[in-house]
Amino acid sequence: MNSLLLIGNGAREHAIAESICTNEKVKLFAFMSANNPGIAALVKKSDGAAEIGDIHSPSAVVAFAKKTKPSLAFPSPDAVLAAGVTDALMAEGIKCAAPMKEAARLEWDKSYARELLKDFKVPGAPRFGIFDSAAEASSFIDSMNGKVAVKPSGLTGGKGVKVTGYQLKDGAEAKQYAKELLSAKHSGLANIVIEEKLEGEEFSLQAFSDGSKIYGMPLVQDHKRAYEGDIGPNTGGMGSYSDANHLLPFLRASHRDEALAIMQKTIEAFRKKTSKPFIGILYGGFMATRDGVKLIEYNARFGDPEAMNVLSILESDLYETLQGMASGRISRVPQFEKKATVCKYLVPDGYPGKSVTDQPLEIGYSEIAAAKANLFYAAVYEKEGTIYTQSSRSIGLVGIADTINEAEKTAESACSAISGKVWHRKDIGTAQLVARRIAHMKALGVL
Ligand code: AMP
Ligand code: GLY
Repeated sequence: MNSLLLIGNGAREHAIAESICTNEKVKLFAFMSANNPGIAALVKKSDGAAEIGDIHSPSAVVAFAKKTKPSLAFPSPDAVLAAGVTDALMAEGIKCAAPMKEAARLEWDKSYARELLKDFKVPGAPRFGIFDSAAEASSFIDSMNGKVAVKPSGLTGGKGVKVTGYQLKDGAEAKQYAKELLSAKHSGLANIVIEEKLEGEEFSLQAFSDGSKIYGMPLVQDHKRAYEGDIGPNTGGMGSYSDANHLLPFLRASHRDEALAIMQKTIEAFRKKTSKPFIGILYGGFMATRDGVKLIEYNARFGDPEAMNVLSILESDLYETLQGMASGRISRVPQFEKKATVCKYLVPDGYPGKSVTDQPLEIGYSEIAAAKANLFYAAVYEKEGTIYTQSSRSIGLVGIADTINEAEKTAESACSAISGKVWHRKDIGTAQLVARRIAHMKALGVL
C-alpha cells in the first residue's frame, strides 16, 4: 500500500493531507511539532500513525520514518528543508518529494538565489547588490536614490524584508536597517541583499518540479499586510485568491508565461551549477512591472496560504504527482478545476502583535459544509472536543466558486460560522479590492 509521511502541522500541511487523502488507497503518516486536529483526523481515517516531536531534527524525523516505513515522504515547511530533513530521510533510502538542503538554498539564502540567476543569465532580476559592509551598502542605497528593499539573506518567517515607502521612511532609514542587519547575522548568514524598489502587483506561482521540467499551478495573490486596504505590519499572509482561468484579473497570460520561463531556467541553472536536480515545489514570488515580470524571491515549498487555494481545486492525484517528482519524472500534467478560490485566515485578537491565546472557538461545521467551503486548521489545539487558539494564525477558510466574487462570499459566510476571539481581513477577494489592483496596474502602464 502507498503511504505518505507528511512533516509539518500548519494549515498548509492540513490542505496537503486533505488532498493526499482524497485517494483512499494512500495511508497518511504525520510527524508534527504540535497536534493539528485536522491532520490527526485524516491520519486516523487512513489507518496511519502520527507523532509529535521536533520536526527540525533530522534524527527525530528519521526515527519516526524507520518505524512507519512510508513509500514517500514530504517534508513541507521552509525551516525543515533548511535543516536537511530531506537529506537525512534519503540517506536512509526513503524517497522524498521535497528539495534537499542544497536545493532549498534557493529559499534559505537570498544571496545564493540572486547569484545563481545572475551567473546563469536567468532573466527577471531587479538591480541588486550583496553586501557585508555597511559603507558599500550605503553607497548602493544612494545609487538607487534611497528607493530600495533591504533583505537579510537568511530565513525570517517572511518578516525580515523592509522597503522604502513602507517599513522604511527613506534612504537614511534603509542605511540604518542595513547596518542593523549586518550586525545581527540572521540565521547565521552574514550578508544582506539590497534591491531596487520595484513597483507593480505581486503574484505567487507555485510549481511542481521533477528536476527537468516545472509544472505551474494556478496563480494566486497573497495579502501579507495585516489590515484592510493593505496597511499595517507584514504577516505570514492574511488570505489569498485565485481566478477560474488560473490567471489573475490584473495579469495577462504572457505574465504567467514569463514567470514560468524564469522558473524553468532556474531549475536548469541549478542543475548546471550543482549537477543535481531541483526536486520539489518551487514557488516564485513575482511582481509584474512596467519592465516585465521580476522575481522577488524563491521559496522551495508550497505557499501558506496559497497551498489552500490551489490544493482545493487540484483534480489530479497529489500522491501520484509527488511520486512522479520524487522519481524524476511527472508523467501526467497536473490538472486543476476551472474554479476561483478565496482563502481567508482567521487570526487571534491582537495578531500580529500580542495575540490573545487559549481562547475557545465555536465552529459551525455544518454551516461551513453547507456553504461548500473548506476549513484548514493552523495554530489551534483541541481539548475535550473544543478548538482553542494559539498565538499564530488560527484557521484558513476557502470558498470555491465560478467567480472570485462568489468565492469571496462563500469564504465570508464560512468565517461568520466561527465565533470567538478571532478576526480576519474582510476585503480579500472583494470586487472593490480586485478593481483597485487593476487600476494600480493601469496607472503604472502595465495593463
Ligand atoms: P520577500 O520576503 O523577499 O518576499 O519580501 C517580502 C515583501 O517585501 C514582498 O512580498 C514585497 O512586498 C516586498 N519586496 C521584496 N522585494 C522587493 C523589491 N525589490 N521591490 C519592492 N518590494 C519588494
Ligand atoms: N504566502 C507567503 C509564503 O508562504 O511565504
